[in-house]
Amino acid sequence: MANKWLSEAFKGEVPKDFQGKVGWASPSNIALVKYWGKKGKQIPQNPSISFTLSECRSETFVTYEKADHFGFRFFFDGMENPAFGAKIEKFLLDRQAFSPFINQLSLTVESQNTFPHSSGIASSASSMSAFVMCLMDIERSLSLSKGRPIDLDLQKASYFSRLASGSAARSVFPKMALWGATPYYEGSSDEYAVSLENDILPVFKTYRDAILIVSGETKSVSSRAGHALMEGNPYAPARYAKANENIKDLLAALQSGDLDTFINITESEALQLHALMMCSNPSYILMKPNTLNLINEIREFREETKIPLCFTLDAGPNVHLLYSESEAEKVEELIKNELVNYCVEGRWIADRVGNGPKKLL
Ligand code: PMV
Repeated sequence: MANKWLSEAFKGEVPKDFQGKVGWASPSNIALVKYWGKKGKQIPQNPSISFTLSECRSETFVTYEKADHFGFRFFFDGMENPAFGAKIEKFLLDRQAFSPFINQLSLTVESQNTFPHSSGIASSASSMSAFVMCLMDIERSLSLSKGRPIDLDLQKASYFSRLASGSAARSVFPKMALWGATPYYEGSSDEYAVSLENDILPVFKTYRDAILIVSGETKSVSSRAGHALMEGNPYAPARYAKANENIKDLLAALQSGDLDTFINITESEALQLHALMMCSNPSYILMKPNTLNLINEIREFREETKIPLCFTLDAGPNVHLLYSESEAEKVEELIKNELVNYCVEGRWIADRVGNGPKKLL
C-alpha cells in the first residue's frame, strides 16, 4: 500500500497561482483494546480497537500558497506555537516522499480543540489526523488543478496519521476502527487502521462515553516514554499475547452483542495498561485516588442495577464511562448525583461515538 501511495504522490510543478485554505475537524478516539508498545517506525506490538469520538475534536485550518521553498507556521488557539510547529514540520519533511509538493508550498496552520486544554485529554490523535486530512485535501486540489481528480483515501490518511502519532491512525474512521495486523480480521494492517463500521452491531454505533475528569494536569510520563518502557518490561510478551486474544474475543462480541465479554475485555484492558506502567522500570502510576473511587462506584452500580455500563482508562487518571444510548438517562443520573463528586470541579464531558473527520472548509 505504502508503495502505491508513493508512486501516486503528486510530483509535478505546483501552479504559480495555487493558493487557498482548507479546514477539517477530526475527533479523538478511545481504545478498548490498547496499543501499548511499538517497534520500528510506529509499528504497534499488538493490534488495537477503538471507538471514534464525536465531541472531543481538533479543528484545523491550513492556508497554503505556492512558494519557492517550504514554509511553515503553526498557531494553536490563536497563538504561534513554534515547539509543536517544529514537530509537525519534522514529520512533513521526513515524509516528503509521499507529498513532494510541500517543498513548493508555504503553509500556515491554525488549530484549536473543542475540549478544554486542562482536561487531561490527549490531543495528538485528533490534531494529527485533522492536519493530515488538510494535507490530503490540498493534494486533491492540486491534482484537480492539473485535471486529475483524486478521491480522499481514508486508508492513506490513516497511514499518514499513524506516522505522526500511532493512535491517530484510528481517528479517521467512523464509529470504530482496528489498527494492527491480526488473523482475526481480513485486510487488517500494522501500517494503517481499517474501519469496523460494517462489522459491529448497531448498539455500538451509538455508544456513549462520559469522560470523568479526575485531573486536568498534563501527565507526568508521555506516551512516547511509556511505549519505550515496554521494551524492558518482563511482562511484555504475555501482554502482547493477551491483547491478540482480546482482539479476537472483542471482535466476536461486537458482532454478537455479548456485553459481558465486551465489559470484561474493556475493563481488563484498561487495568492491564496501568499495570504495565506500574511494573515498568522505572515504574510509575498515572491513576489518582479518585480514579479508583470511580471504578469502585461504577462496578457497584453495575452489580446493583445490572445496567451493563463499564469503564476504560487512557494513559492518564480520567475515567471513560461507556454505556449504550438506551441506558443514557439512568447512567447520566448516576453521573450527576454521585460520580461528579470525584471529578475535578465536577467536570465531565458527554461524548459519544462519532463519524470521523468532517470537512469545515
Ligand atoms: O498514539 P500514542 O503514541 O499517543 O499512544 C496511545 C496509547 C494509548 O492511548 C494509551 C492507547 C491507545 O491505543 O490509544
